[in-house]
Amino acid sequence: MSGFIKNAWYVAAQSLELADSVLGRVICGDPVVMFRTEAGEPAILEDRCCHRHLPLSLGKRVGDRVQCGYHGLEFDADGVCVSVPGQSRVPPGAGVRSYPTVERYRYIWIWPGDPEKANPDLIPDYHWNNDPGWVSNTGYFYVESNHQLLVDNLLDLSHVQFIHATTLGADGVTDAPLNTTRDGDRVHIDRWIMDMPPPAMFAGAGDFPGDVDRWQLITWTAPTHVVIDVGCANAGSGARDGNRDQGITIYSNHTITPETEKSCHYFWHHARNYRLDDEELTKFLANAAETAFGEDVDILAAQQCSIDTAGDDWHGIDINADAGVLQARKIVGGLLAGEA
Ligand code: FES
Ligand SMILES: [Fe+2]
Repeated sequence: MSGFIKNAWYVAAQSLELADSVLGRVICGDPVVMFRTEAGEPAILEDRCCHRHLPLSLGKRVGDRVQCGYHGLEFDADGVCVSVPGQSRVPPGAGVRSYPTVERYRYIWIWPGDPEKANPDLIPDYHWNNDPGWVSNTGYFYVESNHQLLVDNLLDLSHVQFIHATTLGADGVTDAPLNTTRDGDRVHIDRWIMDMPPPAMFAGAGDFPGDVDRWQLITWTAPTHVVIDVGCANAGSGARDGNRDQGITIYSNHTITPETEKSCHYFWHHARNYRLDDEELTKFLANAAETAFGEDVDILAAQQCSIDTAGDDWHGIDINADAGVLQARKIVGGLLAGEA
């Protein structure tokens, strides 16, 4: 599946990445530069000076502007060139493209498509990331694969049994049935693994004397946003009927931003709503998440390499666990066709 859906919000950076300096990144094939104004408002511009094309990310922030590192032209947060050293007059129309930008849920969001369509209400809900009732770990990975392969990975969690044996994996995952439903440009993929031993991460993050009932409730929002409500409770304690009192819940929140056809940016938060002040637990969960997602990153790079060496007439197969992946890919295909 190639191409990028441009009329969508993507995460350009974690809020914490953007301080006093400028940050360059490629988003959906576009080089962009990010910086904050003195008031702390984020701005995202084309990362290419309109004079002699030097990336502005090689320059620096000066007050509310970014200054090109070559001949010192300065651009404001709207991309307008407002100063040219050595002359009082700025050539008419001098400037670079600016992108709709919003800071929300500890992320800087960018809309790479038609600015007229950039409605902030379309940013998907990630409130767990900075809700005071939750504590979250966060991280970023640079991934050497197409973004869709990472979305596929998150929509088919049968892989945890094989790839994440030391953290999220446990026997019985693949035997539990999946329930997949579509709702507009969202897909829900639910799985309950009943009366089985907890995987290592949950055993360390909770207190379970015996087997557990465990849930993986995935919501994918087009094009690349995945929120997974995961957790477990003592077997038979009624978690599936809504009683989670004897269990633990973690929101495993992922959002992926295409860089090129063969690379993407992977941002994640893991948020929990219990033992909020337990720093040892925070460290334990951060370590488990980093370990598990790092394993995915390695798999994805190997998968992309293998895809690159396959001939054009090579075709794979689909299996039952792909139900959610296939639904999501169908929606993405429709959105890509609509933009084309
Ligand atoms: S290339 Fe940017 S000021 Fe000359
Ligand atoms: Fe994984």
